[in-house]
Amino acid sequence: MKRASLVELQNAIRHLVTAVANARLYNLDHPQIKRLCEAAQRCFENLLRERTQLSLLIVEGEILFEDFPLPPGLHSQKFARLMEQRRINRIIISAGLDSDELGELVKFLVQTDQPCGVQPACNHLRFETLAVDEAPPQNKSLDASLPIDADALQALKINSHGRLAELFKTFTVQRTIKMAGLTEIVTGFINAFNREVPSLLALMPLRAMDEYTFTHGINVCLLNLAQAMHLGIKGALLHDIGIAALLHDIGKVHIPMEILGKPGKLDEKEWVIMRQHPIKGARQLLDCPGVPQLAIVTAFEHHLRYNLSGYPAVHEQWCQHLCSHMTTIADTYDALRTKRPYKEPQPADECAAILRKLAGRELHPQLTANFLCLLDQVTSAP
Ligand SMILES: [Fe+2]
Ligand SMILES: [Fe+2]
Repeated sequence: MKRASLVELQNAIRHLVTAVANARLYNLDHPQIKRLCEAAQRCFENLLRERTQLSLLIVEGEILFEDFPLPPGLHSQKFARLMEQRRINRIIISAGLDSDELGELVKFLVQTDQPCGVQPACNHLRFETLAVDEAPPQNKSLDASLPIDADALQALKINSHGRLAELFKTFTVQRTIKMAGLTEIVTGFINAFNREVPSLLALMPLRAMDEYTFTHGINVCLLNLAQAMHLGIKGALLHDIGIAALLHDIGKVHIPMEILGKPGKLDEKEWVIMRQHPIKGARQLLDCPGVPQLAIVTAFEHHLRYNLSGYPAVHEQWCQHLCSHMTTIADTYDALRTKRPYKEPQPADECAAILRKLAGRELHPQLTANFLCLLDQVTSAP
C-alpha cells in the first residue's frame, strides 16, 4: 500500500471516529458531524480513484486493508472497537459513496440501543459479520453507559472553542449574542459531566489554542460547572452558571489587541483601559436579549475580590453573587495554569497553594475550599 493511501485512510478513520465522539454529545444533525462525514468522504473518494472498492477487515482490534494491518494508532483502535461492538467484521466501500451514507454509518455506530443486525442500507457501504455470536450482549446499551473518553472530551472542547470564537466574532460586529450557540456549548459540557467524564480530563486546560480569550472562556466554563456540580447545583441555575462563565470576559472584545496580546506587563495607562472590560461587558450584555441576568452580574463582578478590592469600585456593602465568586476562583486558577507569552504555567500544586493563601481575603473561603477539594479529588484519583 502506498504511503499516501495509508495517510488518506487514517484520516478518513480519524474523521469518522471524531464524528462518533461528537454524535454522542450533540444530536446527529449537528453541523460538525456533517462536516466530519464530508471530510471522511473526500478521503475515501481519493482512495477510490485507484480502485473500484476498498475493504476493511476488522480482526481482534486490528484493521486490515489490502491484507496489511494498519499501524497501531488511537483512532484505528477505536474504529475497530466501534465496529466490533456493532458486530461488523468487514466493511466494503465502493465508488460513489456520499457523506450521507457515512452519516448513516455514524448513526449506526452511536445508536447502540438499536439491534446490531439492522445495519444501514446504503448503496455504497456493505457490511459483513464473519463470526456470528448469537449470545445476547450483556448490556444492550453498552455505549450509552460508557464514560466519554479523552478524545471525545477533547473534540468537544476544540469544537466549543471554535463555536465560542464564532459567537464572539458575530457579537463584535452585530452587538448581539446568539444564545442558542452558548446553550449548546454549556449543554454539551453538562452532558459530558453527567456521563462521568473523569474530572481530571475535564479540568485539564486547553493549551493548544492561540486565541487566549476563547480558550480561557472554555476553561472557566468547565471549572465553574465542576464547582457548581460539586456543590449539588443542578438545572437552570447550573446552566446559567455555565453561560455566565463563557461570557464573563466578553467586554474584552473591545480592548485593543496591542493591550490584550501584549507580551509583557501592562503599563498604568493600559491597565486603565483593561480595567474597563467588566463594565463594558456587563453593559453590552444588558442589550442582548435572552442573556441570563446572572451572566450580566458575573461579567460585572468577576474581578471584584472577596474583600471588595479589585475592580470596578463598589460600595462597601456590596454583596457579590455566588457565581461571581466561583468565576473569580476559576479565572485565577486558569490564569495561573495557562502558559502566556510572558509566563510559564505554574504546577497544579503551586496553584493550589496560591489559592489557599488568597482564600478569605481575595477569594471566597468556603468556595475556595470546595474548589480545592475538587482539585484534591482529581489529583488523588487513580
Ligand atoms: Fe476578566
Ligand atoms: Fe477571565
